[in-house]
Amino acid sequence: MSQGLVTMSYIAASVLFILSLSGLSNQETARRGNYYGMIGMAIAIVATIMSDSVSSYVVLIIALLIGGAIGAKAAFKVQMTEMPELVAIMHSLVGMAAVLVGYANFIDPSSALTGVEKTIHEVEIYIGILIGAVTFSGSVIAFGKLSGKISGNPVLIPGRHWLNLGLLVTSIWLCTQFVAGAETGGGTFSLLIMTIIALAFGVHMVMAIGGADMPVVVSMLNSYSGWAAAATGFMLNNDLLIVTGALVGSSGAILSYIMCRAMNRSFVSVIAGGFGTTSGGPAATVEGEVVEINVSETTALLKDSKNIMIIPGYGMAVAQAQHTVNEITKLLNGKGKNVRFGIHPVAGRMPGHMNVLLAEAKVPYDVVFEMDEINDDFPNTDVTIVIGANDIVNPSALDDPNSPIAGMPVLECWKGENTIVLKRSMASGYAGVDNPLFVHEKTQMLFGDANTSLQAVLKELQD
Ligand code: TAP
Repeated sequence: MSQGLVTMSYIAASVLFILSLSGLSNQETARRGNYYGMIGMAIAIVATIMSDSVSSYVVLIIALLIGGAIGAKAAFKVQMTEMPELVAIMHSLVGMAAVLVGYANFIDPSSALTGVEKTIHEVEIYIGILIGAVTFSGSVIAFGKLSGKISGNPVLIPGRHWLNLGLLVTSIWLCTQFVAGAETGGGTFSLLIMTIIALAFGVHMVMAIGGADMPVVVSMLNSYSGWAAAATGFMLNNDLLIVTGALVGSSGAILSYIMCRAMNRSFVSVIAGGFGTTSGGPAATVEGEVVEINVSETTALLKDSKNIMIIPGYGMAVAQAQHTVNEITKLLNGKGKNVRFGIHPVAGRMPGHMNVLLAEAKVPYDVVFEMDEINDDFPNTDVTIVIGANDIVNPSALDDPNSPIAGMPVLECWKGENTIVLKRSMASGYAGVDNPLFVHEKTQMLFGDANTSLQAVLKELQD
C-alpha cells in the first residue's frame, strides 16, 4: 500500500477514534461509539499490515494468531465482575510493549539519526521506557489488588514522599547520563537502572493506595498506558499510535481528575501515592442493634411508599440482579410511584459499572441520576433500597476523620424516611471499613443474595 493511502487510513481511523470517544461520553450514544472504535481499529490494523513497515508476514501472522487467541479466550472467560482486573492486566501489556519497543529501538543498529535528531530520539526512548515500566508494574499490582491476590490495605514506606522525590531526581540525572553515554555508544547501564527504578516506583505507587481509592489509580494507569502508547508511536515514527495514545492518555487523565473531584481527593497526591490513608488514629468502631426485615415487610413498605430510591452497588453486579431490579421498577412505576436510581461515581469496580448493568437491563436513562444530582433529595424519599452497596453509603466517610474513606462523598440515604439494605451478611465492602448505616435507627437489613431477595419481592408485588 502506498504511503499516501496509509496516511489517509490513519487519518480516517483517528477521526473514528475521536467520534468513538465522544459517543462513549453519553449512555444513549455509547453503542454507536463502540462501533466507531471497532471500525477505526480494523482500519488501523489493516493499513499497518499493508504498509511498507511490515516486512515479514509470517512472523506477523503468528504473533496475531497467538495474541488474538489469548485475547479471545480472556474475553470469553471473563465474568462481568472481573472486568476491572482484565482492564488492569491489559494496561500492563501496553506498558510492557513500550519497554520492549524502547529497548529494541535502542539496540537497533540500522538507526541513521545524527546530532539533535539522535538526541531527541534517545530522550523519546528514555521517556517511553520510563512510562512503560511504571505502567507495567503499577498495573500488575493493581490487578493483584483488584482480584484480591494482594491485600487492599495500603503499604506505606516511611518518608515515601522524599523517596519519590529522590527517585525523580535520580531519573532525570540518569537521563542526562544516558544521552551522554549513548553518543559514545554506551548508555545501557543508565537505561537499565532507570528501568528498575521505574518498575519499583510503579509497585510502590499502587501498593500505597488504600482500598476505596483504587478507582482513581485504575483510571490513572489507563492514562499512563495511553502515554506509553504515544511514546511508542514516537519511537516507531507511527503517527496513528501517537494520536491514539494521546487520546487515551488525555481522556484517562480527565477521567482521573473527575474521579478525584468526585471522591474529594487531590490529583497530585494520587500521583505521589499513598493518598486516602489517614494517620490520625484508629477508625471508630461501629456499635448498635441490627434490625432485620423480611420479604413481605419489604414489599409492604414499597407498596406504601411514593418516592423510592434505588442505590445499586457491587453486590448487584455479583448477584446479577439488574434484570429483576428493572422488572420491579416497571411494576412500581405502573402503580404510579416515583422510582429513581442514585449512582455513586465509584460504585462497583469500574467507572460506569452500574450504568452499564442498568442499561443492559433496559432501565430508562431518565430515572438514573448521578450522586450530585440526587443527594439533596433523600429527605423527601420514603424508602431507599440499597442493593449490594456498602462503601458508597457509609456515613463514616463524612463523620469519622480517621476512617480510611474519610472525605469521600457518599449517597446520604440515612436522611430519608426508611432504608433497606440488601446483602448477604454484615461483611465490609471493598475498603474493608465497618458501616454504621447498617445499625442506623432508620435502617433495616434484608439478608440474602440480592437477586434471590428481589425475585421474592417481585413475586409478591405481582401477586
Ligand atoms: P462494596 O463497598 O465493595 O460493597 C459491596 C457489598 O455487596 C458487600 O458488602 C457485599 O456484602 C455485598 N454483596 C456481594 N455479593 C452480593 C450478593 N450476591 N448479594 C447481595 N449483596 C452482595 O461496593 P460499593 O458500595 O459498590 O463500593 C465500591 C467500592 O469498590 C468502593 O470502595 C470503591 O472505591 C471500590 N472500587 C471501585 C472501583 C470503580 S472504578 N468503581 C474500582 C476499584 C475499587 P456481603 O458479602 O455481606 O453480601
